Amino acid sequence: MNLSRLAQSLGQSATLKLNEIANNLKAEGKPVVHLGGGEPEEKIPRGALEESGKLLDSGFVRYTPTSGTAALKKEIAAYTEKHYGVKPGPRNILVSSGAKQAIYNFLVSVADPGDEVIFPAPYWVSYPEMVRLAYGNPVVVKPREGELLAKAADIEAHITSRTRAILLNSPNNPSGQVYPEDLVRHLVEICEDRGVYLLMDDIYNRLVFDGLKAPSAFAFTKKPLNDSHIVSINGVSKTFSMTGYRIGWSVANEALTQAMVKVQAQVSSCPSALSQAAAAGALAEGDGFVGALRDGLEKKRDVMVAELSRLKKVKLHKPQGTFYSFPDFSAYEKDSAKLSGMLLEKALVVTVPGVEFGLEGHLRLSYCGSEKDIVEGVKRIREILD
Ligand SMILES: Cc1ncc(COP(=O)(O)O)c(C=O)c1O
Repeated sequence: MNLSRLAQSLGQSATLKLNEIANNLKAEGKPVVHLGGGEPEEKIPRGALEESGKLLDSGFVRYTPTSGTAALKKEIAAYTEKHYGVKPGPRNILVSSGAKQAIYNFLVSVADPGDEVIFPAPYWVSYPEMVRLAYGNPVVVKPREGELLAKAADIEAHITSRTRAILLNSPNNPSGQVYPEDLVRHLVEICEDRGVYLLMDDIYNRLVFDGLKAPSAFAFTKKPLNDSHIVSINGVSKTFSMTGYRIGWSVANEALTQAMVKVQAQVSSCPSALSQAAAAGALAEGDGFVGALRDGLEKKRDVMVAELSRLKKVKLHKPQGTFYSFPDFSAYEKDSAKLSGMLLEKALVVTVPGVEFGLEGHLRLSYCGSEKDIVEGVKRIREILD
């Protein structure tokens, strides 16, 4: 078929594949319970609707500057200052079509073929393939036995002369765990020392429970943003329930940001003008929406934890944020793909196998859907396994 080696080497997105299977089963009228989802079920913020509505009414929906509209970048600057303790200028911000594109822009801009990008397991399913798409080599750091968070010393031990970046997602998809302050501080120090970028994937950063806060890496540097090796990735997909709008962004030093702008200019010109207007409206609305979303997810987290605790042989680290739980099912079955396939077939429950996140024996169960689905889904799993 004359496909490139790169195209042939890429894996299919496991989560998108599962969504497709679940949708097909639903279309056949099967009572599928979807615990594999990755988006909140809430309606978007009112401000998002109003701002994109205004632009639509004007009848002019044009290209915007590659790095994003001035209005959205102003909101992002204020949001970043408020929640992450650093104030970016317009040339430190690049708005992209989702956090996914922001991460891709970054990888393409920092990695030469064969360069290494380190990230701890469990990791977001897309990291390895995105690093490969940028012709880099993914380097995975496993947590120690029975733990879900890798140690800073273990991450440091994987740094070589080819390491260009460390990716850290906190709170973490799939584990829901928050990386502790000590680890983030240590990584900032190592990265500054070794000239390696620290990419903080902050996409779930405001969805943290029990009064906790996921530390911002910017809190641990004395360097001004333009000398900093820290890159923060964020977006409206999760925190504002706006996955379909495809708006994310990066905040980084100016030289790196402007290199990333060049990449994006050649790949997609700019993100959708309508979506940018909506994202500006969502950010301008303030904290009310996010607070209510977080409180609702915290309640659903509690339901998920209570239901899972009724399974006899499941081990669970209570999620501290996101809308995912990552219980250890290895006492039932070590092969997570086999277990997930069996649960889909016999219980009609969609789960995502831990192996996709680099950690066998676990399943990812989401609690972003309805409480009814959480209770019913885990009940069906219990009936099969216990
Ligand atoms: C850890 C992580 N980073 C980035 C993204 C991408 O988000 P976006 O919808 O903004 O592309 C996701 C989406 O699932 C994610 O889980």
